[in-house]
Amino acid sequence: MNDEVFELASSLVSSSYVNQAQQARRARETKFKSLLAQRRLPDTGWDEATLRLLLDELVSMDSNAFIGNAGVGEREARVVCPLVRQRHFGLGHGIGRSGDIAEEQPKAAGSSLLYKLTNFLAADAIKRAGALTVPVNCLVLPVATGMTVTLTLLALKAMRPNAKYVVWPRIDQKSCLKAVAAAGCTPLVVENVLEGDELRTDVAGVRARIAEVGAEQVLCVLSTTSCFAPRGVDKLLELGRLCAEQEVAHIANNAYGVQCAACMKAIAAASKHGRLDAFIQSTDKNFLVPVGGAIIASCSESFGPPLIAQVSATYPGRASVAPILDLFITLLHLGADGWAALLESRQKLLVPFREKLGALAVKHGERLLETPHNTISMAVTLTSGGGGRKVTAMGAQLWVRLISGCRICAPSSEKKKVAGIAFANYGSHHDTYPAAYFTAACALGATEEDLQLFLKRLDKTLKEWKKMKPLPEKVPKSVDGAGTGEVAGAADAKGTVARAADVALREESAKEAEEFKEAKEAKESAANAAPTPPPPAVASPAPAPAETVVVDAADPMRGFTVKSERVAYKRFLQVEERVVVYPDGREASFDIVGHPKNAYRFVVAFAFHTTTRSVTVLREFAQAAPPHCATTLVLPTGGYDPKKHPSLLGAAQAELAEEARLCGGTWHALLPEDHPGILESKWCRNRFTPFLCIDPVPNGGAGERDAEEHFESIEQIPLDAVRAALAQGEFMPPSMQTCFSAMEWIARSKV
Ligand SMILES: Cc1ncc(COP(=O)(O)O)c(C=O)c1O
Repeated sequence: MNDEVFELASSLVSSSYVNQAQQARRARETKFKSLLAQRRLPDTGWDEATLRLLLDELVSMDSNAFIGNAGVGEREARVVCPLVRQRHFGLGHGIGRSGDIAEEQPKAAGSSLLYKLTNFLAADAIKRAGALTVPVNCLVLPVATGMTVTLTLLALKAMRPNAKYVVWPRIDQKSCLKAVAAAGCTPLVVENVLEGDELRTDVAGVRARIAEVGAEQVLCVLSTTSCFAPRGVDKLLELGRLCAEQEVAHIANNAYGVQCAACMKAIAAASKHGRLDAFIQSTDKNFLVPVGGAIIASCSESFGPPLIAQVSATYPGRASVAPILDLFITLLHLGADGWAALLESRQKLLVPFREKLGALAVKHGERLLETPHNTISMAVTLTSGGGGRKVTAMGAQLWVRLISGCRICAPSSEKKKVAGIAFANYGSHHDTYPAAYFTAACALGATEEDLQLFLKRLDKTLKEWKKMKPLPEKVPKSVDGAGTGEVAGAADAKGTVARAADVALREESAKEAEEFKEAKEAKESAANAAPTPPPPAVASPAPAPAETVVVDAADPMRGFTVKSERVAYKRFLQVEERVVVYPDGREASFDIVGHPKNAYRFVVAFAFHTTTRSVTVLREFAQAAPPHCATTLVLPTGGYDPKKHPSLLGAAQAELAEEARLCGGTWHALLPEDHPGILESKWCRNRFTPFLCIDPVPNGGAGERDAEEHFESIEQIPLDAVRAALAQGEFMPPSMQTCFSAMEWIARSKV
């Protein structure tokens, strides 16, 4: 709906209501505009209505949605089943053209635009995950990781037709090797080396393999970041340096490594100090969408763009838009803060989970393997138990207890063929890994509840496993493993045939999960929906607690309109007369005061000293306080001067220097970046923004105070005394609010 349409609507419905609707619509259009202009994740995630509106707009740009369109081609995005049409929001043209997946489709401007935007959003998300400072080139493909590796190798082959070898540090994940075979390349396997418990890259072995066949014959080195423990992330930096030296391409399989700071750090280092042509990651494991997509990305200005263009041109035919759409919607739904919070929540679970898993292992006489270079997957030894059964049978025990995702490996003399190559001890990334073990992962999207439930069930399973009696000579086929929980003949968890005992165990586990969930919900409601703490951020805005919706962005005015404003008085303060029309049609005239010189903004700084757990508080003369009193407690507070201060943060830093004689420290914004500031009072337009500064130091008296300001005292007051003063109404309201926000932040961040 454009302005003209809204104007016409005003002749039918009262203009104040139509104006509101128009404003709400504009708020959404502003988001679309920023997306197209900035081509990055929005700061905060979009609501569903905004997402639907954008999708509708994009869909209506495709020719199948044109009113009166008569399609006579053989492919006209005709979808017979309404449910299928709905599932795809009406997008039916797919992406790309026969010659290139990134090519625009004349019949589908909307789909083409959506694809371009998704590539930008993916690049931004990857950049943020890896704190990368260089531009990232991205192409999202509607095939998963393995196929994307194949496409990349095919593209490299087209660029280097004489090279056919892929030097590949071993990773026992079938798709990795099958991806090489599917591209018609010859893998040169480099065994991993044991460093303590951990399996690491044999960089010298990679060098030797390159030398054996000659660098010009090597298509690339294919390294891996994310993998099952006890393998660690490959030594990407050393491989990158080797590839640069040998002028050999280097591709990293970063299957689920975007979620992991260590994997992304390895990618950044190899890209910066060595050669890394591209890295490939799945969309499902890293961005929590259904399986179906992967992203080829590159930080290399010289190798990335031509390779990505070649991959794009290698893709034969058109491609499904579905996995791209899933990623597009998900990234806009998350926004930058949602994405950061998702990554952070995994990171937060990691250490406690590792510690608890280690403690549980010790309790059952086992040991968490030391794998410092794998910060997703963990492995625990399995040295005894099972009453003589194969270790892999423990997988069946976990499976019937409703645990999925564990992988059990045991030394085995049997060889397993993958893509024509026979591997000893397949599954453990090493011919002779010395221990049997099981793995568990702290992966993106796992909740604390998932991990706790797993540990609880693992405890039970290990207890049973350790006490398990030997199998009778012959297990009757029709009887379950009576009392042992053993599933006869189960080679691995998924091979389990669920029988009576298993069914009972699964039911018990399902009930247990239900109880667990209920207990958690009860605990949460007892905590009475206390707002989630903003994650600590250094000199950056902290996102608002998830539950705190202060203003509905889609309808911030809720049916009220400002009819007129005029300046009635102006000296230092400005008084305006503001006439407001209420949603029910009433009108009211108000006096509104404010400081236009400060753009109606001011800042408050909470200076916290961690060694003494105290706060810098000032006692200041307040001109409106007499005759009741003359002074009041305040935190350093001051106006934002757009001519003087580079930002609100800059204003807060200047204020702390001038009023409290402090500088430095670590600064944290206590409101989200796009918050307009907290209203000073109902009849005052000024809004303030609170900041927290941790451990500032004396600045030696630098910084001029305003001539009219008068401070009676500057003191560092213990937190408890601040609380008492707040309760007794000693502080000015902006300082009160700032104390509250800062103290919440401190409590939750455990500073
Ligand atoms: C290291 C590694 N490479 C490749 C793959 C295959 O990924 P996809 O199923 O997305 O092709 C996986 C799957 O988890 C993996 O872990």
